[in-house]
Amino acid sequence: MGLTDHIKKIAVIGAGTMGHGIAEVAAYSGYEVYVYDIKQEFLDNALNRIRWSLDKLHSKRMVKEDVDTIMARIKTSLDFEEVVRDADFVIEAVPEKIELKKEIFKRLDELTPQHAILATNTSSLPITEIASATNRPDKVVGMHFFNPPPLMPLVEVIRGEKTSSITMRMTIELAKKFGKQAVTVAKDVPGFIVNRILLRIMSSACWLVTSGNASIEAVDAAARYKLDFPMGVFELADYSGIDVFYYVASAMAERGTKIYDCPLFKEKFEKGEYGVKTGKGFYEYPSPGKYVKPEIPKEAAEDINPVYIIASAINEAAYLISEGIANKYDIDKATMLGLGYPKGILRYADEYGLDTIVNALEELARESGMDDFKPHPYLKEMVNKGLLGVKSGQGFYRYPSYEEEKMENIIIRYEKPIAWILLNRPNKLNALSPKLLSELSTALDKIEENDDIRVVILTGVGRAFSAGADVNSFVGVTPFKATIYSRRFQEITNKIEYFTKPVIMMINGFALGGGMELALSGDFRIASELAMVGQPEINLGIIPGAAGTQRLARLIGASKAKEVIYTGDMYNAYEALEIGMVDKVVPPEHLEEYTRKFALKLAEKPPLALLAAKYAIQLGLETDLWHGEALESRR
Ligand code: COA
Repeated sequence: MGLTDHIKKIAVIGAGTMGHGIAEVAAYSGYEVYVYDIKQEFLDNALNRIRWSLDKLHSKRMVKEDVDTIMARIKTSLDFEEVVRDADFVIEAVPEKIELKKEIFKRLDELTPQHAILATNTSSLPITEIASATNRPDKVVGMHFFNPPPLMPLVEVIRGEKTSSITMRMTIELAKKFGKQAVTVAKDVPGFIVNRILLRIMSSACWLVTSGNASIEAVDAAARYKLDFPMGVFELADYSGIDVFYYVASAMAERGTKIYDCPLFKEKFEKGEYGVKTGKGFYEYPSPGKYVKPEIPKEAAEDINPVYIIASAINEAAYLISEGIANKYDIDKATMLGLGYPKGILRYADEYGLDTIVNALEELARESGMDDFKPHPYLKEMVNKGLLGVKSGQGFYRYPSYEEEKMENIIIRYEKPIAWILLNRPNKLNALSPKLLSELSTALDKIEENDDIRVVILTGVGRAFSAGADVNSFVGVTPFKATIYSRRFQEITNKIEYFTKPVIMMINGFALGGGMELALSGDFRIASELAMVGQPEINLGIIPGAAGTQRLARLIGASKAKEVIYTGDMYNAYEALEIGMVDKVVPPEHLEEYTRKFALKLAEKPPLALLAAKYAIQLGLETDLWHGEALESRR
C-alpha cells in the first residue's frame, strides 16, 4: 500500500506555462485533474496547448493512451471552490508574487479537505512564508517542476521549516507516479539546487567576460565543446530568457544570497534584449521567438580553461552538502536532469581534481576581489584529506583504477576483473552505425582473449543506451546491402549470446530498435528508472532485423513480443520490468554501483562453470529437454 494511493483528484491553480504542463503530466499519469484560472481565455488556451502536446507525445509513442481519454480527465473552471473542493493534492502555479501566493494558500486551507497536501511550484519564493498563511504548514511543500513539465524529468521537492516528513515522502512518491525523478531539498534555501548551481555558472561566465579574460563566444565554445553542456552559458540565457534569470537572481539576492551582480545581464535586461523571444540577446535570432542554434566555432574555446566556468558551481554544491541541504546523488541528478549536463557537477569536480578546483577558486577570488568565489572550507578539507577525485581514487565518489582504450565510437574500460564497453556516440544517441558495430565486434574479441577479465558490462554514454540502427545507413541502400547489414548485426548479437564470459547490459536510457536487440543478446538487462525501451521498427515499415523477433519472443513469450513489435510502442523502465524486457530497475544515481556489484559477484565464480551453465541454458532453449539434459551432463 503506497502513501499516495488515496490520491485521486489533483487541483492545479494557474493554467499558464507551468500550470498547464503540470496538469497535462498529472492527467497522462492517470489522475483526475481540475484546473483553475481567472479568465476563461486562459483555461481554453491551456486546453489547446495540452492537446497539442499530447498529440505530439502520442505520435512519438511516449504516451500510449488515446489523447481524448486523457483529455477527458481534465476539467477546467473559473470557480475556485469547485476546483479545490475534494482535492487530495493541490499544486499552485500562479505568478511569483508572495502576497498572491499567500492569499491563495489561505483560501486553499479554508476550502480543501483536511488531508490535502498543498504544494507550490515556486522557483524563488520561501515555502515557509507561503505556509505561514495556512493552519497546516506541515502539509505545505515546494514542488518545483521544470519547463516544459512533460519533457523535463526532474522535480525538486522542498521542505519548508514546518513541512512534515510524511508530506515530503508523499510528494516524492507522487512525483514518481508522474514519471519524474525527485530530488530532496531539505532546507528552504533560495534557488534550491538547480538555480543555485546554474547562477554560479552564469556569474562565473559573466565575470570571465567583464574582466576581459574571455569573450562570450569563447565561454560558450568551452561550455559546448570542452564541458559538453547541451548549450553555451550565454546561449542558454538567451534560450530561456535573460529576463527570467534576471528575476531569479534578483529574488535570490533579495533573500540574502551573495552573488556577483552581473552588469552584462543587467544591461541586456534594461535594453529589453531578452534573447530568443525578442530576437536579440547575447546573440541575434532572425525571427523573434524562434530559436536557431548560434554558430560558435570550436576554435573559440582554445584559450579558455573550462575549470573557471564550473569551479564556483562546485563550491555551491559543497555548501549544499555541508549544510545538509542536499546529498551528492541528488545534486548530480539535479544537474544532469535539470540542466542536461552529461554528468553531475560533482563528477566534473572529481575529474578535474578538487585541488585544481580549489586553486581556481582562490585565483578567481584574488583577481575579482569577490568573497563569493572563495573556496568553501568543505572543499579545502577534502583536499587536505587527499580526497582529490579520480586521480587519488576518491573524491565525492570512489573510483576503482582502470585503463581505457578509445576507438572512434567505442571505449573499452578495463577495470579488472570487469571490462566496460561504452557505446560512445552520445550526440546521435549511440545509433548503431556499421563503423560502431565493427568496433564493437573488435572490442568483444579483444576482451574475450584477456584473461584478467571475467565479466563484461555494456552501456551507452549520455542519455541513451542506443536509439537503434543508424537510420542514415539505410538511406538509398539496396535490399541486398540491407541484408548484409542485418546479417553482420546478427553475428554480433550471436557473438554476445555465446560470449565465453557473462555480459550484462546496463540500460542507462533509450534502448530502441537495434539498441534493444543488442540488449536482448546479453545475459542480464539492468535498467535505470530513466530507461525507455521498445521495438519501433514497424513505424518505419520494417521489422527488427538483428534477431529481435526471435530473442524477444523467447524472453517474454510470443504474444507479448507481438504486442511490443506490432505496436512499436515505447515502454518506461517499470513497464519493461513488468513484461520481462528488463530484469531489474534501479534509480539512475545507483545504476553504475549496482551493476558493478552484481558483476563483481559473478566475477568471483569459477569461469569455466559459468561458461558451462551459460551454454547449457542458451543451447537448451533451442532444443528439447532430453538434449538439454544431455548437454548438462556432458559438462
Ligand atoms: N539513427 C540515427 N540518428 C539517430 C537515431 C537513429 N536511430 N536516433 C536518434 N538519432 C539522432 C538524431 O537524429 C539527433 O541527431 P541531430 O541532433 O544531429 O539531429 C540526435 O540523435 C538526438 O535525437 P533527437 O530525436 O533529437 O532526440 P529526442 O529526445 O527528441 O528523441 C527519440 C529521442 C529516441 C525518441 C528519437 O530520437 C527517435 O525516435 N529515434 C529513432 C528511434 C528508432 O526508430 N530506432 C529504430 C531504428 S531501426
